[in-house]
Amino acid sequence: MKEILIKVSWLKEHTKGFVLVLTLPLILEVILSVSSVAMAIISKNLIDAAENKDKALLITYVGLFIGSIIIQLVLDGILLYIRTHNTELISNKLRENLLMRVNEKQWGKLSRYHSGDISTRMTSDIGNITSILVNTIPDIVSLAASLIASFFALLLLKPSLAMIAFILGPISLILSRLYARKLKKFNANIQNSESSCRSFLQEAIQNITIIKTFCLEQFINGEFKKLQDKKYRFVMGRGRMTIVSNSALSISYWVGYAIAFAWGAVGIFNGSETFGALTAFIQLINKVQGPFTGLAYSLPQLISSSTSIERIMELENLEKEIKLDEIADFTSVGIRFENVSFFYEENKYIVNDASLQIEEGETVALIGPSGKGKTTLIRLIMGLLKPNSGTIYVGDKEKEFQICASTRKLISYVPQGNTLFSGTIIENIRMGCEEASKDEVIEALRSACAWDFIKDLKNGIYTTIGERGIGLSEGQAQRIAIARAIIHKTPILLLDEATSALDAQTEIQVLNNIQNLDYKPTCIIITHRNTALKICDRVITLETEGIVEIGNLNYQASNEETG
Ligand SMILES: Nc1ncnc2c1ncn2[C@@H]1O[C@H](COP(=O)(O)OP(=O)(O)OP(=O)(O)O)[C@@H](O)[C@H]1O
Ligand SMILES: [Mg+2]
Repeated sequence: MKEILIKVSWLKEHTKGFVLVLTLPLILEVILSVSSVAMAIISKNLIDAAENKDKALLITYVGLFIGSIIIQLVLDGILLYIRTHNTELISNKLRENLLMRVNEKQWGKLSRYHSGDISTRMTSDIGNITSILVNTIPDIVSLAASLIASFFALLLLKPSLAMIAFILGPISLILSRLYARKLKKFNANIQNSESSCRSFLQEAIQNITIIKTFCLEQFINGEFKKLQDKKYRFVMGRGRMTIVSNSALSISYWVGYAIAFAWGAVGIFNGSETFGALTAFIQLINKVQGPFTGLAYSLPQLISSSTSIERIMELENLEKEIKLDEIADFTSVGIRFENVSFFYEENKYIVNDASLQIEEGETVALIGPSGKGKTTLIRLIMGLLKPNSGTIYVGDKEKEFQICASTRKLISYVPQGNTLFSGTIIENIRMGCEEASKDEVIEALRSACAWDFIKDLKNGIYTTIGERGIGLSEGQAQRIAIARAIIHKTPILLLDEATSALDAQTEIQVLNNIQNLDYKPTCIIITHRNTALKICDRVITLETEGIVEIGNLNYQASNEETG
């Protein structure tokens, strides 16, 4: 029960802005249900008037009958329109909010989820939640209204029949409780296997060249089939259970129907009931039994779809990044590590009690064997990861700030690997500075030694590049990523093997240009190549000996070539 209340309050919290659009269909559903019950009474009176050859009354009831059909048609149309509108409105808003919240989470926590899993939660699970709000809840209201109106109408016409229907009805609800628990389990399994399928598919498409080069087509298809088959089994399991429970629910429905039919038939035989009454009984008993059966389907649906709420809550409950309100606008910034320790896995230190000072405007090379923790160090400076102990500061002689999400505005970063977005070159560069003029974009491209090849492209900076820089060479993509960081004009610039695909001459040229930038950023350059070390003020080595020691960050003041 407590669990249900938590989810209800989650729904309330997330639908604050939609109270009006969600209430309107509920009111219309109630009107529709009452009018359909009224139709049963009208049809009874219509048949009675026909039997009694009362022409005036007959015309009146035919008019009312047609009128209520029109009302129902119009309301059905409006409701369909509102449902479509609400589905889009609410699912878009929930998705936008979730994307925003996900972006506020700590990268370290978030990176434990597969991107395919997160996108399933954002699409399929949000779809389920929207459906609860837009379809299931209005259906429940409509059924409840229909039930109450029909029960009172039947009570007015034939109290004994109303009682029978009312006693038979709850049988379906009791059955539905058993159904709900199992359904919830099936739905959780279906959503999880949907996540696995999507994650697998996403990776298979991203790595299509590897699949082709290693001739893995059959293997990949086989693995994908296994995942899809697993999902198929869960979906069919749910299907089978639904069929069994539907049949059980239908029995109580048909029993009620048969009783009403027999009652009316016997009444007509005895002359105690009219044909009109028989029509009304059958319609009304349907409307009392129907809602019970409908509720018996909808309530478990509501409970089981709460799996989707749980999956979204799980993402929302991840730890948030710390943000400070005010970070001074520095022109020049140094970085200071104070007894910093960090590990991904307990006691497998990447840095252990490391202290280090990088001065304002200094260019530092960070070197060390692969897998020693260079990128991790950059992530710590970016505040993407939190030290397990110790503190990292950025600032100048007068003021320092502890690293957090807000200090990121002082940092530009060129990550390892291809990080371009699909779109034009200029769109990619403007991600670094939205309002940059065309001239400024070209200037940044010149500094990154990218202008020479871009100016020869048919569409220049308006050339469209594909996902992850498809259409460019790796070295070209790297230079565009560097230009994006340069135009960001921040006091710190972090380059994580950002020039690894460039020839030595171009690499030196790019790094020289960076050193000569008018805003003189403090630079950390991660590199495996010695050429770059020449232009650095200092080289910091991450130790090669596997054992982690205190002061693992062993830095050597050196302008010499090392390694
Ligand atoms: N998200 C993670 N969870 C657990 N361990 C990780 C994670 N990311 C990296 N590691 C481990 O941390 C160590 C340091 O990784 P990191 O990427 O910082 O190395 P690197 O020095 O940048 O290597 P390279 O030169 O190959 O880029 C590696 O042993 C790696 O296996
Ligand atoms: Mg790395």
